Amino acid sequence: AGEHEFVVVANRLPVDISVAQDGSLSWQRSPGGLVTALAPIMQKNDGAWVGWSGQADFSHEPFDGEGMRLWPVALSEEEIASYYEGFSNGTLWPLYHDVIVAPEFHRTWWNAYVSVNRRFAAAAAEAAAPGGTVWVHDYQLQLVPAVLRLLRPDVKIGFFNHIPFPPVEIFGQLPWRRQVVEGLLGADLVGFQRPGDAANFLRAVRRLTDLKVQGPQVTIPGRWSRPDRAVRAQAFPISIDAASFDSLARTPEVLARAKEIRKELGSPEVLLLGVDRLDYTKGIRHRLKAFGELLEDGQLRVPEASMIQVASPSRERVEQYRQLRDEVEVTVGRINGDFGTLGRAAVHYLHHSYPMEEMAALYRAADVMLVTSLRDGMNLVAKEYVAARSDLGGALVLSEFTGAADELTQALQINPHDIDGTKATIMRAIGMDAKEGRRRMRSLRRRVLEHDVQRWADDFLGYLAMSVPSPMSVA
Ligand code: G6P
Repeated sequence: AGEHEFVVVANRLPVDISVAQDGSLSWQRSPGGLVTALAPIMQKNDGAWVGWSGQADFSHEPFDGEGMRLWPVALSEEEIASYYEGFSNGTLWPLYHDVIVAPEFHRTWWNAYVSVNRRFAAAAAEAAAPGGTVWVHDYQLQLVPAVLRLLRPDVKIGFFNHIPFPPVEIFGQLPWRRQVVEGLLGADLVGFQRPGDAANFLRAVRRLTDLKVQGPQVTIPGRWSRPDRAVRAQAFPISIDAASFDSLARTPEVLARAKEIRKELGSPEVLLLGVDRLDYTKGIRHRLKAFGELLEDGQLRVPEASMIQVASPSRERVEQYRQLRDEVEVTVGRINGDFGTLGRAAVHYLHHSYPMEEMAALYRAADVMLVTSLRDGMNLVAKEYVAARSDLGGALVLSEFTGAADELTQALQINPHDIDGTKATIMRAIGMDAKEGRRRMRSLRRRVLEHDVQRWADDFLGYLAMSVPSPMSVA
């Protein structure tokens, strides 16, 4: 057994690491709500974070950084191709997102997934103190709970799935569906974004195993001298570090930058904004189609109306992502060719990622935020937009196929497949009177500021602590 009362296991470490010529390490905390929420809990409980550095063959002893122990798991070039790009992002990602593109099933990918999951589980087993708590994250690591339980029956194990869990009719396509369900059932608590995801998982348990399922609880019969064990499946909608985002978006620098952005674009009357990882789940093409048609119909005109699309590079070696990039870039080019004027583009397309400050300025600058995902576990961009609008300005158009739609009921919700409906809703957002806009934003903000990522982590860990006796305290 190790020495860490609290261990997080995620595919990625929360830092970007670089190695100098002399072999010394330096690192930078990567932006993200998860690490922000967990940092205080890590500090208090002598925490460790097990994850991949993002580089091939990076192997290094655990080291101290960001107030925790950082515990790198090495992946070879071949494993990056088969476990990460292959099984995680070529099989599970599309399978769990309504098969928007076709998942590929390859036995070599599955074998790599099994062996890499074992490696993560072994690292967690080495790190965790006797009776400690291990929290495993996301679809890349669904086998870790069961492997870890065999290695370390004394630890409490939580799992949280950040993406949707599909209906068993789709999940059932997976040749290794039973192994995945059994992998997850190694945990004491399995968390999902939406109640529907938890229900899908429980249906899969019923269909694929002969275990007893009662309400949110699955009973695993004890073997030999061990007593029965209960696994609970439940929704815990994730959120953002809302208070920090709110205060960032009020700083004079961000407000000045927001003004400058509008000016740089020629002071349009209406500024629309999309912000996504460049992923086929985000409905970027549907959004561009709707905007292009509004220009074509003459309902919107350049330069009075303008759109910014930030598409941050993602999984660029996976074929479906390359194809998507080509299609988006052709579409943007066509819209700009048809409707742009000299010095005034219709769509400002940015294939970069930006620091939080610039994102906050973009949110403050935009009149209408467009979130058009075809399927999305939560969608934190929607919550960031709301947290940034302390001026109660701006309107949020939000796909009903996001986890966020459950909570953000005062957004203007759309079915992104319905292009006419989306166009009408965009026009409604643009024309909405200020009083209604403020009323909606006030209610959205109440929800996001109260249910922040800290509360999410405390909720999850609170339930996990209750599921088995635990000495660990929550921040
Ligand atoms: C989603 C997943 C995360 C993943 C992130 C970025 O939010 O739920 O697990 O880390 O996308 O994707 P990447 O493949 O670059 O880690």
